[in-house]
Amino acid sequence: MNKWENHQLLGENRLPPHAYFFAYADAESARTFERERSRRFLSLSGTWRFAYFDHPLQVPEQFYSEYMAGWGPIDVPGMWQMQGHGQLQYTDDGMPFPVDPPYVPSSNPTGAYQCRWKLGPEWRGERVILRFDGVETYFEIYVNGSYAGMSKGSRLAAEFDITALLVDGENLLSVRVLQWADSSYLEDQDMWWTAGIFRDVYLVGKGAIHLQDVCVQTRFDDAWRDARLSCAVAVSAAAGWRIEWALYDGARELQRGGGREPAWEAAVPQPRQWNAEDPYLYRLEISLYDDAGTLLEVVPLRVGFREVSVRNGLMYVNGRYLKLHGVNRHDNDQLRGRAVTMARAEQDIELMKQHNINSVRTAHYPNDPRFYELCDQYGLFVMAETDVETHGFVNIGNLSQITDDPAWEAAFVDRIERHVHAQKNHPSIIMWSLGNESGYGCNIRAMAARCREIDPTRLIHYEEDRDAEVCDVVSTMYSRVQMMNAFGEYPMDKPRILCEYAHAMGNGPGGLSEYQAVLDRHPHLQGHYVWEWCDHAILQPEVPGRPFYAFGGDYGDYPNSGNFCCDGLIYPDQRPGPGLREYKQVIAPVKVRAVDAAAGVLEVENRYWFSSLDGIFLLVQVKAEGELLRQERLPLPPLPPGQRQEFRIPAPPAGHARCYLDVRVMREQATAFSAAQHEIAVYQFALPGPAAAPAPASARLAPPVLSEQRLEYRVEGIGFHLVFCKLTGKLKEWEAGGMALLARAPQLNFYKPCIDNHKQENEALWLPQHLDIMQEHLRGMEVRRSAEAVEVIVDCQVAPPILGYGMRCRYHYRVDGAGRVQLALSGKPYGGMRDMIPKIGLSLGLRQELDQVEYFGRGPGENYPDSKACNTIDRYRCKAADMFEHYPRPQDNGNRMDVAWARLQRPDGKGLRIDAPQGMHFSVWPYSAGQIAATRHDNALREEGYWTVNLDHKMSGLGSNSWGSEVLDSYRVYLEEFSYRLDLSPLDGEGRA
Ligand code: GAL
Ligand code: MG
Repeated sequence: MNKWENHQLLGENRLPPHAYFFAYADAESARTFERERSRRFLSLSGTWRFAYFDHPLQVPEQFYSEYMAGWGPIDVPGMWQMQGHGQLQYTDDGMPFPVDPPYVPSSNPTGAYQCRWKLGPEWRGERVILRFDGVETYFEIYVNGSYAGMSKGSRLAAEFDITALLVDGENLLSVRVLQWADSSYLEDQDMWWTAGIFRDVYLVGKGAIHLQDVCVQTRFDDAWRDARLSCAVAVSAAAGWRIEWALYDGARELQRGGGREPAWEAAVPQPRQWNAEDPYLYRLEISLYDDAGTLLEVVPLRVGFREVSVRNGLMYVNGRYLKLHGVNRHDNDQLRGRAVTMARAEQDIELMKQHNINSVRTAHYPNDPRFYELCDQYGLFVMAETDVETHGFVNIGNLSQITDDPAWEAAFVDRIERHVHAQKNHPSIIMWSLGNESGYGCNIRAMAARCREIDPTRLIHYEEDRDAEVCDVVSTMYSRVQMMNAFGEYPMDKPRILCEYAHAMGNGPGGLSEYQAVLDRHPHLQGHYVWEWCDHAILQPEVPGRPFYAFGGDYGDYPNSGNFCCDGLIYPDQRPGPGLREYKQVIAPVKVRAVDAAAGVLEVENRYWFSSLDGIFLLVQVKAEGELLRQERLPLPPLPPGQRQEFRIPAPPAGHARCYLDVRVMREQATAFSAAQHEIAVYQFALPGPAAAPAPASARLAPPVLSEQRLEYRVEGIGFHLVFCKLTGKLKEWEAGGMALLARAPQLNFYKPCIDNHKQENEALWLPQHLDIMQEHLRGMEVRRSAEAVEVIVDCQVAPPILGYGMRCRYHYRVDGAGRVQLALSGKPYGGMRDMIPKIGLSLGLRQELDQVEYFGRGPGENYPDSKACNTIDRYRCKAADMFEHYPRPQDNGNRMDVAWARLQRPDGKGLRIDAPQGMHFSVWPYSAGQIAATRHDNALREEGYWTVNLDHKMSGLGSNSWGSEVLDSYRVYLEEFSYRLDLSPLDGEGRA
């Protein structure tokens, strides 16, 4: 039987798990916490020899004992697929081979890795531990020709004692790594299938007497003031040693003690408590001496005083109620796959902190051990999930097949055991998660029991323990807002977590505010995690131009789940997307409301769980149509958590049109993750004022001249003319000030390039209704002249082929003597269809030279009716090309709503101004809607040579129904009667209309 097809066999010669820590030669080096400076540490990461084989038995016999000098190089850590070997494949849940546990493909992609090293004299007499922090999926190690052990559990550490196999001089390590194993059935997370030694490999030397394990726990008294720190160690020898420990607050020693006992407690009066908002860490130094009084080693540990508890169905940290505003994070890098560097992981954490996120779920496996250290330091509450997902069994109708099979118990339990032991000392971890999407059964119960046995101090989560039989929290994923509200109204006796929601695929997620309102309302709802942090697409650096991000199917992989892996709040290269900015605002810990904005009465609410508003100030600005009228900086009172307070600012000046009060909440000082003057949130309140003055009427000019030819009407005045086609009713030419404006005629439009979050509606409704191929047919055309203007009234029908429904529409153009065009648009539906549609709008093409945009409306980023909290109404200026949001998979994007006017112009000021008396949705694309809809990858989009300008009346919300919530009712647009108006004015050279 192959070892990799024997699920009872979990490892060979693997050492028992223990906490992740390092021992140092003295206190001084211990204080660095740099493992490279620990007592004996040798990193083996770097360039190794490597060969790839299609079958494990193709690895030549010499590999195990001889250095294969002729083999090529490979980076360790790394995934071999990201380095030119093997095949990439992306599936959400499907196993890419027949479901036949524990068997896997006989042709099993195999990587043969080798490295060599010499050990210095200081390693003599040491026990040498070889440690792997992560290898996918199954690996065997050979040291100097001898078999040294084997392990499974890709995202869990594995250690081997190789002392007996080492030689003086050069040592050879050969590692045979197989992509598939019985354990693949436990590692079916929604991500790329990859393989390789993807985390660090290193040697750790240990003296004859050394600390094998340490466990630190902190508990508070009933008043949550004084704490007890308890520490237990495991020492490699029963006797012959003595411990001295000391607890430090920075450089200050607080406590010290020692003796021959492997466990002790210390009373610590009023320690500063660890929480994600104030991640205050103490340092515990444990020094191990032998009986002769020689210092053997010093183990430093960061200690956070933090205690998790549940009382009356609610979760508390340090006795305080809190909510977890979280994200689901995978290890992912656009070039390295899951072999993320710590620099990238740290940047992820900084970004989370900058965006008000206070919790992370390590979906769906343990991370590099250093990740948790960073969470301790930066301050994130961690839901630490272990490496278990058997999702693929859903495809054969029994998700719980191995989860409820006792023959697999050891394999399940091993994973929580190794995880909890390794990470048990992190204050940041407040909850263990037994895995994801693996059904339910005896093995989950066994995991929970073992987890609790090792660590009774933290809560246990597992989403598919639906009734929280063995877990401490109840959890669901993607429950809709109404459902969450019901959950909140009828609480269970355990706190509730929404472990995934708001599927951030492509453009979206929409509806975060409504979720948040409900999540904030009910005490029972204590945590929510957006799915997910980052797009998993892979950059193809060899393709020139804009980045080409590959997703499922791009490697010829089949079956695949396409771009379902592009569902993050940040882009593959870690750039924040619009969804992250929106989330930041929605979960902002400081709320500002207007009691009476015009009188300058505001209310501020502190929604931090642990901190006061000390150090936070408001930047208050009053702007009229984007013009700054006044600005103040107001420090906030040190309001305690959970409190609200009304306060006054000087009353804003009155009497201005389009006047807004903008309030930016900012932190004065720099923090570990943010610069000074970091913006936490922004709020905007409309101020009363007169209606905006209409564009100044130009001196009364004589109406333009209307002339009729056989096939067209021509409307002409001083310095401009327009031409309307009598066959189609379309405005086909428009020249003003000596320049042509139009590249495509204005066109009413009820469809847009489908966003991922509308795929369900698109496929079930819009494509079958042929909404995407509606045609326009002229039904009547009339021209009129009045004393001031020429009017062209076009009646037409916009409707799909084949079917009997559509819209009877009217374009009513009114051209005045100054060359300004008032365009009134209206429509009435006929036929049976009254369903939701993407939008009601107008698009036209403007000439490429008009490449500067200015608008007064909501920005600066894209915004939609259900995703606009982070954008404020102001006057914005940008290049037309920057109005486009480049999602890896092209789709509708770049919308700006509440736009009162917009202009597109040349650098010399000539162009077009659009006024929307009712407000409009405005977007500008260098590509046509058709091209955006038909293009699979952003880098393949080609500029059309004109701007597609969308001047839309109504726009459906985004929702997150690529996997999450449908668009909420109030954000749906239906095929219904409409009318709106746009005033189009050519701009002269000075940019004046
Ligand atoms: C969840 C799953 C995640 C991911 C998500 C969809 O059901 O837990 O891993 O697949 O759906 O993107
Ligand atoms: Mg899954």
